[in-house]
Amino acid sequence: MKPILNVYALPKLVEPEELAGAAAVVIDVLRATTTIVYALEAGATEVIPCLEVSDALAAAEQMPAGRFVLGGERGGLPIDGFHLGNSPEDYSPEQVRGKMVIFTTTNGTRAILRARTASEILIAGFVNASAVVRALLHCEQIHILCAGTGGQISEDDVLLAGMLVERLQRQGGLMYQQNAQAITARELWLRSFALPKALGAEPLEPEVLAGQLRRSLGARNLLALNLADDILAAAQIDRFTGVPRFDPRTRRISLQKFDGSSD
Ligand code: MLT
Repeated sequence: MKPILNVYALPKLVEPEELAGAAAVVIDVLRATTTIVYALEAGATEVIPCLEVSDALAAAEQMPAGRFVLGGERGGLPIDGFHLGNSPEDYSPEQVRGKMVIFTTTNGTRAILRARTASEILIAGFVNASAVVRALLHCEQIHILCAGTGGQISEDDVLLAGMLVERLQRQGGLMYQQNAQAITARELWLRSFALPKALGAEPLEPEVLAGQLRRSLGARNLLALNLADDILAAAQIDRFTGVPRFDPRTRRISLQKFDGSSD
């Protein structure tokens, strides 16, 4: 059987049962999955994704004060009573090192929890794209889930999906069977930048990628909230080498280096 590489531009386009036995990659470039990478790379011990604000508060009640931070957003803004919002660079070592991050966002954490039936669940941003590709090279069934924004497709997510498809196809040496969304995402990626940059032969500068991300629905919401810096923070390709993995049994996300070791 041919290996499978599918993209879903929104989580609702795939049923959880279809992910069973496969690797799932969850993408919410602006900003949830990017922020999770920043938080774990800054030394947070784990991230607990929660569907609702009430779930996050209930999880916090089980933990000693000082051992966790509550983070996330509603409507793009920090949640009342939470320590941090959803800006990637706010998750600095000073804020999160040695602490658990209890995290709830509008679309991103929802998409992660929807992927819970997959056998391996990876969290991706541009900031750890190459590490995610390396982690997936051995996988024969890959489903890439884009979180979208409020039920609408957001181009920032589809662009990263397209980059992952392009890299996997070229580096994996496998003839993947792809769905139409995977083919379209790759085409979008390839036509968005000069070819040497899209293929990784020349560096794709954060400002150039951010310029493209700014056209997306997710970015327009952030720009309206004066959060333009978050777009640039999300556009730092391969700033990090770790891959967050969600374990649905413990409901926690922890950081692994692409060779499989825990950080
Ligand atoms: C989401 O999960 O939808 C995003 O976190 C939205 C945002 O960054 O404001």
